Amino acid sequence: MTSATLVIIPTYNERENIASIVSRVRAATPEVDILVVDDNSPDGTGAIADELAAADNAISVLHRVGKEGLGAAYKHGFRWGLERGYDRLVEMDADGSHAPEQLPALLEASEHSDVVQGSRWVQGGSVVNWPLHRQLISKVGSMYARLMLGVPVKDVTGGYRVFSAHALETIRLETVHSMGYGFQVDMLFRAHQEGLRITEVPITFAEREYGESKISMGIVVEAMLRVTGWGIRNLPARLRGQGRPAETATANSRG
Ligand code: GDD
Ligand code: MN
Repeated sequence: MTSATLVIIPTYNERENIASIVSRVRAATPEVDILVVDDNSPDGTGAIADELAAADNAISVLHRVGKEGLGAAYKHGFRWGLERGYDRLVEMDADGSHAPEQLPALLEASEHSDVVQGSRWVQGGSVVNWPLHRQLISKVGSMYARLMLGVPVKDVTGGYRVFSAHALETIRLETVHSMGYGFQVDMLFRAHQEGLRITEVPITFAEREYGESKISMGIVVEAMLRVTGWGIRNLPARLRGQGRPAETATANSRG
């Protein structure tokens, strides 16, 4: 199947990581294009990305004026890709936690679903070197969101994903306002509400070797509060039995 795929990599202070992740993506999936979305990183990540783009037509860079959060960066990147006619758009962290070598499996699953969720918390998925407190936040957060929202996905905050252009258009990006990592939950919740097909594919998530995580208490709290609000607002609809049943999402157990 021929389709144009864009891997979007948001960056904020990823100087030690950007060249390596880009070259791993190029090696693992030579047919896909790459867009780096940099929020004017003080460490000069944007300039390094420009050098990579100058040497390779498959690579582009979107420079934003300042740090506005993961959600804003992805929204900008998605719009850029949709305008240029890409029909599959991938979310991938810059720090190596999402292995480009696993992208072919995600892309394969995306041939028959609207949203593919790379998942740490399904059979075959795993985390490597991730501190216990981060694992707990992730698992408990996922469980809470699943209960509150009825989204049938085990790893709702995970940021290794493939969206079809159709999915992004259906979700209506302009109306998504979550800024931090709550953006990830928001996108899946909307996909589920719209009846889009979501598939989880196991991934191995490895903690970064260089640089620091940008997660903060504020980001976690924003996400929890938003999930609680959406859950309460959505409760009447759930009680009326609207929305898709949990069985529609299938864990793709490969490998
Ligand atoms: N442009 C931009 N602007 N990029 C950002 C921003 C921002 O404000 N904040 C974070 N990023 C980029 C980072 O540079 C990195 O490439 C990616 O987003 C993920 O950020 P990390 O700081 O490495 O996140 P983590 O390892 O703590 O995050 C985990 O949780 C996230 C939310 O669920 C992982 O599971 C991610 O996959 C997941 O998206
Ligand atoms: Mn990370």
